[in-house]
Amino acid sequence: MATCPLLMVLTLAALLALTTPLDGAQPAAPDPAPAPLNITAILVNGTNYNTFSHLLRETQVDIQINDELNDLANAFTIFAPTDAAFKSLKSGTLNALVQQDQVGLVLYHILPRYYSLDMFETASNPVRTQASGNHGAYTINVTTDSNMQVNISTGIVHTRIAKKIFDDSQQLAVYSLDKVLLPYDLFGPKPPASVPPVAENASGKSPSRDSAAAEEGTSGGGLHGRGVGWSLLVGGGFVAIAGYLF
Ligand SMILES: *[C@@H]1O[C@H](CO)[C@@H](O)[C@H](O)[C@H]1NC(C)=O
Ligand SMILES: *[C@@H]1O[C@H](CO)[C@@H](O)[C@H](O)[C@H]1NC(C)=O
Ligand SMILES: *[C@@H]1O[C@H](CO)[C@@H](O)[C@H](O)[C@H]1NC(C)=O
Ligand SMILES: *[C@@H]1O[C@H](CO)[C@@H](O)[C@H](O)[C@H]1NC(C)=O
Ligand SMILES: *[C@@H]1O[C@H](CO)[C@@H](O)[C@H](O)[C@H]1NC(C)=O
Repeated sequence: MATCPLLMVLTLAALLALTTPLDGAQPAAPDPAPAPLNITAILVNGTNYNTFSHLLRETQVDIQINDELNDLANAFTIFAPTDAAFKSLKSGTLNALVQQDQVGLVLYHILPRYYSLDMFETASNPVRTQASGNHGAYTINVTTDSNMQVNISTGIVHTRIAKKIFDDSQQLAVYSLDKVLLPYDLFGPKPPASVPPVAENASGKSPSRDSAAAEEGTSGGGLHGRGVGWSLLVGGGFVAIAGYLF
């Protein structure tokens, strides 16, 4: 199929979001036991994170996160970009990524430990993300100031924690961002290819190969095979994604 599956999924997701009543639909059953942590429910509750929560679902990262939270008692910090943040990306940015890099982008928004806002003060840069694997790639830098403002830099994108969406004080913190974190490893300048710089009048094209390369997508293959360590998606996970999307 030639159509872009992610785009289709996102479009469908947007339609569903429009047609699904957001509140009052399901009376919560009285339940004395603490509810299991559910990243999807937390993001749906926010109402402003449809794109991110559907990305989590399509990559099945949501299942991994929920399982690790509830079954293994692992801890995470999740940066959830708003729907507006995704809309402000150049069109085609996400679809230009091969599946593995889409998963990488999602995992880049997840830190493999719990950070309260003040814990970022003592975080040492670069901070590893769930996409970092063993290679020291896919990291972010975090800086804080005395007003508890937390800045995040990917080397490409500079933003700050806009607000706290969820915090259980020990296992899971979810923060809202006004920008999508674009990993330097995916969107940074590529090392110059073996082609030497071409004279400007050679073919009438001006050489603009910075971030446009990422947007153009299918042309180069420069984004492929960058050796991300999939700390979450070992084994069957990735196969399942491929099966789902195609
Ligand atoms: C998590 O929440 C979502 C949205 O409310 C729901 O569809 C899903 O079934 C929940 N998952 C679990 C494991 O409870
Ligand atoms: C949903 O939002 C309400 C009000 O903001 C909050 O009290 C509740 O804890 C939230 N639920 C989840 C699962 O985040
Ligand atoms: C955070 O970013 C803002 C705006 O980019 C900047 O003015 C501020 O100095 C930064 N603070 C820290 C602690 O990096
Ligand atoms: C992140 O911090 C490390 C260590 O302080 C520094 O070497 C690196 O240049 C920083 N990267 C970015 C993108 O700011
Ligand atoms: C570029 O233009 C100059 C001057 O018009 C010409 O001498 C040169 O051959 C051109 N180079 C190429 C690669 O076309």
